[in-house]
Amino acid sequence: MPKVIAIDGAASSGKSTVSKFLSKKYNSPLLHSGLLYRKISVLAIQNGINIKSKKELLKCIHEIEKANYKNDELYSNKVSLLSSKIATKKYVRDSLIHLQREFPKKYGKGKRFVIIEGRDIGTVVFPKADYKFFFWASADIRAKRRYEQLIKNGEKVGFKGIYRDIIHRDKADLNRKVAPLKPAVNSLLIDTSFLSISAVLKIIERNILIR
Ligand code: DC
Repeated sequence: MPKVIAIDGAASSGKSTVSKFLSKKYNSPLLHSGLLYRKISVLAIQNGINIKSKKELLKCIHEIEKANYKNDELYSNKVSLLSSKIATKKYVRDSLIHLQREFPKKYGKGKRFVIIEGRDIGTVVFPKADYKFFFWASADIRAKRRYEQLIKNGEKVGFKGIYRDIIHRDKADLNRKVAPLKPAVNSLLIDTSFLSISAVLKIIERNILIR
């Protein structure tokens, strides 16, 4: 079985970028678990679903396994906010656990590592992951990264609004009752505020290549 690398952390802390680099360098399958929550949100918006209705939301959840993930809307600000809201629901999280746990078995055959990135990977989804990392960065720096990304995607947004949304998502992720965002006890904390991508990669490699 491949070794599981769990990368958790705050929104725009660099998890996604760093895990993409790692995945490429080590030819390792990568799951951005946030995409699952984002896809449910996109389907809910497209189908005009009331997210308070468990029955209707469950219908969207059943669709995500065979859904197409090549969609710019997935990273829009509206979808980011709705996915952090949807992610507070226990039945939503429970229904995604199996799919995430199947990932290494399904895609990791013959591979050295499998990378799973999210909020609760090292704490809930893979509590026995071989390596656990927890990313953080100042809200200012994360908002700047997010703002630049959205502008690049052609969204008309202002920095102040993005900063507010980052704080809002942090609060939702940190304070929810089910699987809140927090470092696993045996994780390595990395503050990416003033680190380049290659510096973060080096820290991770120092850990995953020694044992
Ligand atoms: O990583 P991301 O920004 O794409 O995630 C979108 C939202 O999904 C995030 O605000 C919280 C939620 N999420 C979660 O609760 N648990 C995960 N493992 C991944 C994402």
